[in-house]
Amino acid sequence: MRPEFDQYAPEYSTLLNDPLRDRFTSDPVFFHRRKWMLIRDFFAQRRINSSKLRWLDVGCGQGELLRLAGGSFAQAVGCDPSSGMIQSCADGEVYEQPSPVELPFPDRSFDFVTAVCVYHHVHGGDRALLTKSIKRVLKPGGLFCLIEHNPWNPVTQAIVKRCPVDSDAELLTAPAAARLVGTVDLEILETAYFLYFPENIFRRISRIEQSLRNFPLGGQYAVFCLNSAEVFEEATYATEGIAATAQAVASHSA
Ligand SMILES: C[S@@+](CC[C@H](N)C(=O)[O-])C[C@H]1O[C@@H](n2cnc3c(N)ncnc32)[C@H](O)[C@@H]1O
Repeated sequence: MRPEFDQYAPEYSTLLNDPLRDRFTSDPVFFHRRKWMLIRDFFAQRRINSSKLRWLDVGCGQGELLRLAGGSFAQAVGCDPSSGMIQSCADGEVYEQPSPVELPFPDRSFDFVTAVCVYHHVHGGDRALLTKSIKRVLKPGGLFCLIEHNPWNPVTQAIVKRCPVDSDAELLTAPAAARLVGTVDLEILETAYFLYFPENIFRRISRIEQSLRNFPLGGQYAVFCLNSAEVFEEATYATEGIAATAQAVASHSA
């Protein structure tokens, strides 16, 4: 079956237009920038040096986040089942996924994996299978960041309801996302809600948005988790980058 997003790819940015979304910012890159700020803050708080990490963006779409943040990593790779979407990623290292639940990479090949606004397009048992594949490609001590629309935010609900690209969307709450990653034994380190304010207000009061990160009403949320299962069992993985990541994460969580 043809991947769903192939039909949207030629007009993707136009299909996202929405008066409510446009009131939030005149520059759609703002949404990607906010995600990168959140990830960067997470790394900074834990003294993790991203320039040593291999990053995979699952469901990278047209590659906006990779373009924005890729230079801050040792390697930045994307994948997506839609060949139409990744046609716009010729400037990056991006691969077509053979199926919605299989990632075309060897086991334990990435230090950091993201899936941004992907899971609400993945249905039924495929969610757990995709999460299992993400865990498979994560190195022990690697980190996974799942970012999603927050169904508890009424503006998000309104935008999603009328967006053609989201006609099949099944939103998941942060607790549901936490349960999902829990099924493959990924350990939750932090859940952060964000996108409370339009860009012009956010610029002036970003600290207030920061203080609301535990309050479950932001437009989107991020769940950060650690592949801790084998870190302490497998001495062979005590490579410089991973050991440092696991140590930094463990000491921050303690
Ligand atoms: C709303 S777009 C988000 C794209 C990008 N992550 C972003 O934030 O701009 C959703 C993307 O998820 C992809 N996708 C859908 N099902 C997927 C799956 N099972 N695994 C990986 N990607 C998937 C779609 O092809 C599409 O490119």
